Amino acid sequence: MAEKLREDFAPPQADVEAAALAMEAFARSHSSDGRRVVLITSGGTKVPLESRTVRFLDNFSSGRRGAASAEYFLRAGYAVIFLHRHRSMYPYSRRYSAINWLDALRLLPATAPGQGEPRVEAEQRHLPGIVQVLQDYHSMRESGRLLPIEFNTLSDYLHLLLAAARALNPLGSSAMFYLAAAVSDFYIPASEMPEHKIQSSSGPLQITMKMVPKMLSPLVKDWAPKAFVISFKLETNPQILIERAHKALDTYRHQVVVANILDTLRTCVVIVTSNDEANLSITNEEDRSGVEIEEKIIEDLTLRHKHFIEQSDSN
Ligand code: PMT
Repeated sequence: MAEKLREDFAPPQADVEAAALAMEAFARSHSSDGRRVVLITSGGTKVPLESRTVRFLDNFSSGRRGAASAEYFLRAGYAVIFLHRHRSMYPYSRRYSAINWLDALRLLPATAPGQGEPRVEAEQRHLPGIVQVLQDYHSMRESGRLLPIEFNTLSDYLHLLLAAARALNPLGSSAMFYLAAAVSDFYIPASEMPEHKIQSSSGPLQITMKMVPKMLSPLVKDWAPKAFVISFKLETNPQILIERAHKALDTYRHQVVVANILDTLRTCVVIVTSNDEANLSITNEEDRSGVEIEEKIIEDLTLRHKHFIEQSDSN
C-alpha cells in the first residue's frame, strides 16, 4: 500500500517523516505510562485537479466532530493524536470559531503614561464559558496528552494515517482509531493530472476520477490488526444508514461504526457493532444546557474499548 500511495498520489505537502517520529515518541511514552492512546482523524480532504493547484474538490466537513471528541477523550484520560485538516476546528478554540475576535478585545492605555505599548484585554461577554475553556486548555497543555498533526491534501492524509498506524500498532488493543474525517472517495492520479491551470476557454469540463482505496481495509488487516477501530458512516437517506453501517462492518471486520445523518448529525448518532445498535441522542433540554452528542459518543466508546482490551487480554 505504501508503494501504491507513492505511485498514485502527488508527494505529500506535510513533513510526514517528522510527524511519524513525533507520533512514535508520543505513543511510546504514553503507553509506557499505562495510558490508552487514540488517533482521531478530523475534517475534510482537499483533492487537487491540477498539479500547480488552482482548483480542488472539497467537502462540507468542519472538523467539529473530531475537535469536540478530542476534548472528551482527553477528559476521559486518553492521550490523543489529533490528525486534522489545516484550519478545521481545533479542540477548545472551536467554541469561538464563529466570533470576530476584534469585537472581543479592547485596547487599554499603557500602565503608566508614555511607558510601553497599550495593553489588550478580552471582554468575557463575547467569549461564553472562556474561564472554564482556558482552564481545561492549559491543564491539557501541561499534561502533554494532545499531539496535533495537520494535513492539507488527500495525499497528506493517506501518508499520515499510515505513519500513525505504524506508531500505534505496538500498543495492540490499547490503541484506538476514531476515523471521523470525511475522506474523499475520488482522486486524479498524479500521472493523469494536468500540470497547469485548466483553461475555461476549452469549454465545459469533463473529468474522470479514480476511486480512493479505502484505508480501513489495510488498517484493520495489516497496519494495526489488534487495535480498536471505529469508522464513521454519513448518509443523507435515513433508510439506508444502518444497512450501510453493517455492510462496512462485514467488509472491513473492525469493531464499531458511528452512523449519522447529515440533517441531525449534532443531535443523534447510532453506535453500530456486529451484534448491537445503540441510539444516542441529545434532548432539547440537554441541547439548551450545552450538552454535546460527542460527550455521549465518547462515554459509550471508552466503555466498549475497556471491554475490548479485557477480552483481548484474556485471549
Ligand atoms: O466535521 P463535521 O462537520 O463535524 O462532520 C462530521 C462528519 C459528518 C464528517 C463525521 O461525523 C462523519 O460521518 N465522517 C465520515 C464521513 C463518511 O461517511 O465517510 P465515508 O463513508 O467516505 O467513509 C467511511 C469511513 O471510512 C470513514 O470513517 C472514513 O474515515 C474511512 N475512509 C474513507 C475513505 C478512505 N479512502 N479510507 C477510509 O478509511
